[in-house]
Amino acid sequence: MTRWLGTTRSRLALALTAVACTAAVTPAVAAAPPAYRDATRPVADRVDDLMARMSLQDKIGQMTQAERLAADPGAAAAAGIGSILSGGGSAPTPNTAEAWADMYDAYQRAAIAAPLGIPIIYGVDAVHGHNNVHGATIFPHNIGLGATNDPGLVERIGRATAEEVAGTGIDWDFAPCLCVARNDRWGRTYESFGETPERPTAMASAVTGLQGSTLDGPASVLATAKHYVGDGGTTGGDDQGNTEVDEAGLRAVHLPPFQAAIERGVGSVMISYSSWNGVKMHTGDYLINDVLKGELGFTGFVVSDWQAIDKIDGQEGFTADEVRDSVNAGLDMIMVPNEYQEFMALLRAEVEAGRVPMERIDDANRRILTKKFELGLFERPFTDRSLTGTVGSAEHRELAREAVRESQVLLKNDGNLLPLAKDGGKIFVAGKNADDIGNQSGGWTISWQGGSGPITSGTTILRGIQQAVSPGTEVTYDRNGNGIDGSYRAAIAVVGETPYAEGEGDRPEGMGLDEEDQTTLARLQESGVPVIVVTVSGRPLDIAADLPEWDALLAAWLPGTEGAGIADVLFGDHNPTGTLPMTWMAGADQQPINDGDGQKPLFPYGYGLNY
Ligand code: GLC
Repeated sequence: MTRWLGTTRSRLALALTAVACTAAVTPAVAAAPPAYRDATRPVADRVDDLMARMSLQDKIGQMTQAERLAADPGAAAAAGIGSILSGGGSAPTPNTAEAWADMYDAYQRAAIAAPLGIPIIYGVDAVHGHNNVHGATIFPHNIGLGATNDPGLVERIGRATAEEVAGTGIDWDFAPCLCVARNDRWGRTYESFGETPERPTAMASAVTGLQGSTLDGPASVLATAKHYVGDGGTTGGDDQGNTEVDEAGLRAVHLPPFQAAIERGVGSVMISYSSWNGVKMHTGDYLINDVLKGELGFTGFVVSDWQAIDKIDGQEGFTADEVRDSVNAGLDMIMVPNEYQEFMALLRAEVEAGRVPMERIDDANRRILTKKFELGLFERPFTDRSLTGTVGSAEHRELAREAVRESQVLLKNDGNLLPLAKDGGKIFVAGKNADDIGNQSGGWTISWQGGSGPITSGTTILRGIQQAVSPGTEVTYDRNGNGIDGSYRAAIAVVGETPYAEGEGDRPEGMGLDEEDQTTLARLQESGVPVIVVTVSGRPLDIAADLPEWDALLAAWLPGTEGAGIADVLFGDHNPTGTLPMTWMAGADQQPINDGDGQKPLFPYGYGLNY
């Protein structure tokens, strides 16, 4: 019963006393954390709880990916953007592992300071090592890894790559590319493990390497099976072109690698720019919703390619129709990557108009948030700095050198000229790709297109040769072969392609050696010294007419920073085991030429000599 006292003052005094006593007696009970923050709960429950707290705008933000240059941490957090990416070569200054980690942490600090505190997920193209980062280990591109035909090696490379990526904070890798390259004119042939589904399917082992046994394990990063589906089958090898094949053919050739990646639990799938029988894959409702998510049971999330929805109608920029059609076709996250406010506004309008069902928005959010919880981003949003030192580590470089050795394909060896003795007379080295880290690494290295010259740290093919020979053996280098004469016991010419990426690498015309290489080779041949040709290229080259003049031919593909692996084969420290992942044409007019198509190649799929 409450006793009312005579005066207000007294009542107030009593009231204050009562409050004071209560406070003194019953400690303040902190509000329980929201369920989604409780890591002991099932992920599905955490997702449900979080989504129940999210507005439509919050959910649209999670479906939006912006390039780092379009949204700094403050802007990204203010807009509620769920994902950031670095496009090829988009790096902090200085371009060091520490600076990357600091940049990543700045985005996460801003993101988790927002009311719901949803961490971002940050994607990069670490397609042959953490290739945007100066000093990172650059592994052979996929075509060389396909030549190893060693899924276990590719898994180990995935693990090493994940350590370097995680060491810079980044938690999502737009890799592996599981394309099946059917026409070597395609500028992305080197991103393919092989021309038939077998090797790309086997090399889905990269997913396991990148993601580890559990996504929240140390150094695990989300992998991406790309580009779904049929990117390597376009007519003429046109990048972003049209894959004209019936469904049976599409399923037989291009789908198996994605099935393998899904069986390995790949967390994301990136859609291809290309079209299937004239329909843009980014509006591929049947192949994405029915086949990928339905029939194959893919439970991760689907991301667009860079400005890919802009290209649906063939006009610059994106429209409400393109936003609606791609999201309704099953795209869960859009790599906008610049006009993110416009994208968010258009998608919101489409939802509010009932043209994009709320169920679609919720399904996309459920998929994205599930991966963020599984990655442990809510518990550990910041860089694990204990991994930063793995970037470019000696251990990883040794693994890369092993991969270079295994990727070498010996195609000709007249008179068993190879392996060369490490002593016994002078050796001449020539060719534009002998002493050039950039050329031997290819595209997607430090910059999007890659570039010639000392673009990062590593061992050139020439340096590897110099290190391999006995101390008393003289190695002379001249890029164009000037100075060669009969006093040398052998000449090694390292020739081939200079870096390119994507459509820049399409070769609708000739596929042979350039004039510089031809001139260098002619100079060497005039000397009468035996000539060993090493091709550094992202694809087979049209060299049948030149081959008779060569005593030996070694296909080195795009070996990356550890060029010493090639000397390991040239001087017999490793007996070559590589085999062709792509049929080697007898002439460019044979393209596309693939195993079993009845044409007579210079060297067949699977060919490779040893000592
Ligand atoms: C590129 C490529 C894709 C890459 C993406 C982000 O255009 O097609 O492979 O992951 O953009 O850089």
